Order: sequence, then structure tokens, then C-alpha cells
Amino acid sequence: MMKNWCIVAIALFSLISCSQQKAKKDFIGENVEFAAKQIGLEFKKMDSLNVILNPRTILPNGETRYNKPMLWTSGFFPGSLWYMYDLTGDKIWKDRAMKVNKTIEEVQYNTQHHDVGFMIYCSFGNGYRLTKTAEYKQIIINAAKSLSTRYRPKVGCIQSWDANKGWQAKRGWQCPVIIDNMMNLELLFEASKLSGDDSFRDIAIKHADTSLDHHFRPDYSSYHVVDYDSITGQVRSRVTAQGYADESAWARGQGWALYGYTVCYRETKDKRYLDQANHVAKFLLSHPRMPKDLVPYWDFDCDDVPNTYRDASAAAVIASGLYELSTYNEGNQAVEFKDAADKIVKSLASPNYRAKLGENNNFLLMHSVGSIPHNAEIDVPLNYADYYFLEALVRKRNLEKK
Ligand code: GLY
Repeated sequence: MMKNWCIVAIALFSLISCSQQKAKKDFIGENVEFAAKQIGLEFKKMDSLNVILNPRTILPNGETRYNKPMLWTSGFFPGSLWYMYDLTGDKIWKDRAMKVNKTIEEVQYNTQHHDVGFMIYCSFGNGYRLTKTAEYKQIIINAAKSLSTRYRPKVGCIQSWDANKGWQAKRGWQCPVIIDNMMNLELLFEASKLSGDDSFRDIAIKHADTSLDHHFRPDYSSYHVVDYDSITGQVRSRVTAQGYADESAWARGQGWALYGYTVCYRETKDKRYLDQANHVAKFLLSHPRMPKDLVPYWDFDCDDVPNTYRDASAAAVIASGLYELSTYNEGNQAVEFKDAADKIVKSLASPNYRAKLGENNNFLLMHSVGSIPHNAEIDVPLNYADYYFLEALVRKRNLEKK
């Protein structure tokens, strides 16, 4: 009798865990299927026009804004195509990704701003990871050389923006460094591994250390911009460009910090970076103004919370960062970070944020914020929200496979 009960219990347990596995698989599978159809519609458009396009967002007139190669967002769409290849194994995505990569090759020589890291790592970095194309390897190394020209030894940082051009020229900065810059370090770490030249990695570590010293408040929230004196290396001011106020916590910036220090820990195993990423994650997850669905308002300190915009792009960056960070933690903290990432991707995949097929100009997610102070790209789809959402799905799949 007892034996029979045991058999029934084991069968029931297997059935439940099997259907839980299936539900998990279905969540990723359903999202990938949707993404394949939605991005497929963009390629249908390209085929009918016989052009290669690189979508960024939707303009106020309802048309799609497309990237020129030198825009900071030019690497995300090809990066998304590489993630589609990773998620499906279907060669069509590899072919498409290679075609779009081709249109932004010139970025490897860009020394005009720090974003070359985002642009080249998302596109050619992922391409190299998946195909080991020799030409891509050289592009990554060339891009790291270009980015390194912006390193300022007196400051110990890569200068993000030129201080004498565009809207930045009005701010009176000397050497502005933004927290987003943490995201460009992955390219440098990779270039050192590919070339054997440690100077890229050394720059990345120096930048991470300087930012650790100067970019954070005691509660581990991050400033957006730190302006350094280019002669003495001293901090001149701590301000914002895209946040609500100089002393506010701009949501995407917190995501860049979390993700950036997680990468630095992966590449160096320096415990200070892990501690920093963990502190930022705790700041975010325990914030009284973090909504229940874990998709943050565009700035935690905006006076209009809760009657202001959410930023799906910040949520996607945070989710992807948390998946990786969970793997460097143990026990409750690992579970907490993984669960939070799961909750975020589920929120983003819900009808509250994920577009309907054929709508949203073929972008996957709705409701991101580019820059409210610049009155630009507010409550729109953004190609980097889609990129980090797909990356989060890849990371979730890899984690659950283990
Ligand atoms: N790196 C620019 C932004 O996050 O908007």
C-alpha cells in the first residue's frame, strides 16, 4: 500500500515539475515567436523597399526614426538580430544581423563620443561571440583603440562627451563622464582578451575605480554626470543631463550602474565591483517608489511620481543585469535577484508593455523614455529596450537550462 502511494506521489511530482518546466519554456518560446513575427514585419518592409534599415524609435509624427551609423543607438537593432539568432538558431537571423552590421562598420573608427562601446559590442561583439568571424574580431579591437583615445589619465576616466560641441557646450563642463559609460567597458575587456593587449582592460579598471569613488551617493544611487577638471582630475560638479534633478536617481542610469559593475566583476573577480552591483540592486529593489511590476518611473525622484512615465528600457536593462548578478550571489540573494528579473520580464511581456503584433511600428516594447529634459523620445518604443529585453530572455534561458 505504502509503495503504491510513493509511486503516485513521485508521478504527481514529476507531472507538476514537468508542467512548470513547460510553462517556463513556453514563456520564452512565446516571446521569441512574437519577436520573430514582429521583427519579421520590419524586414518585409525593408525587402519591399530594397534597403537595409536600422530602426531606433517612433517620431512624434508616427513615422519610424531610423539610425544613422554614428548615432549612439545604431548597434542595438543588429544586436537584437544576433539575440534572435541565439534564441532560435535560425540562420535567417544571422544573415539579417550580418547585413545590418555591415552598414555600421565605420563606427569602429569613431572617436567623437564614448558610445562606440554600446555600438560595437552589441552588434559585432555578439556577432563574434556567435560566429567567430575574424573580421569582427578586428573591428572590436579597432573600436577599443578608438574608445581608448578618450581616456584621460589625469582623471582616470574615459571622457563621455566632448564639452565644446552641441547642447553640452552650454553646460560649461571640462571632462563630463556619465554613468552610462560603465556600459562601454565590456568592449575594452573583450578587446584585451582578443588582442592580448592589456591596456584596454587597464583603462576599463581605472574607469570603474574612479567612478566607484566619485559617481555614487551614500545610498548607492548614482549621479548621471560627473564633470572632472581635465588638468587636476578633481571633481568639478555632479549634475544631471537626462534625469529629473542633479540629486535625483534617473532610472536608466541606475540600470547602467548595476549592469556595468556586474560586468566588471565578471571580468576581474574584484569583490568591490560585486558589492557595488549588489548595493545598486538593493537600492532599486527596495526603493519605496519602485512600482509593484518592477518597471520603474523614468526617475525615482520625479515630483510627479506616480503620475509620470514608466521607462521600459530601464526595466529591461535592470532585468538583464539582475540575471547575471544572480549567478554571482548565493542563497537568498541569488534567488531574490533571479525572481526580480523574472518579474520584470513578465511585466514587460504583458500587454501593458509588449506591443500587439503589427503595431508599434514593429518594435517589441512600448513605454520607454529617452530624455525628458531634452523633450525627446518620451513614452515611445526604443530599440535598446527591445535589445535588453531579448538579452534578458537569452540569460533567463541559459540560467534555467543549468
Ligand atoms: N546612454 C544614453 C541613454 O541612456 O539615454
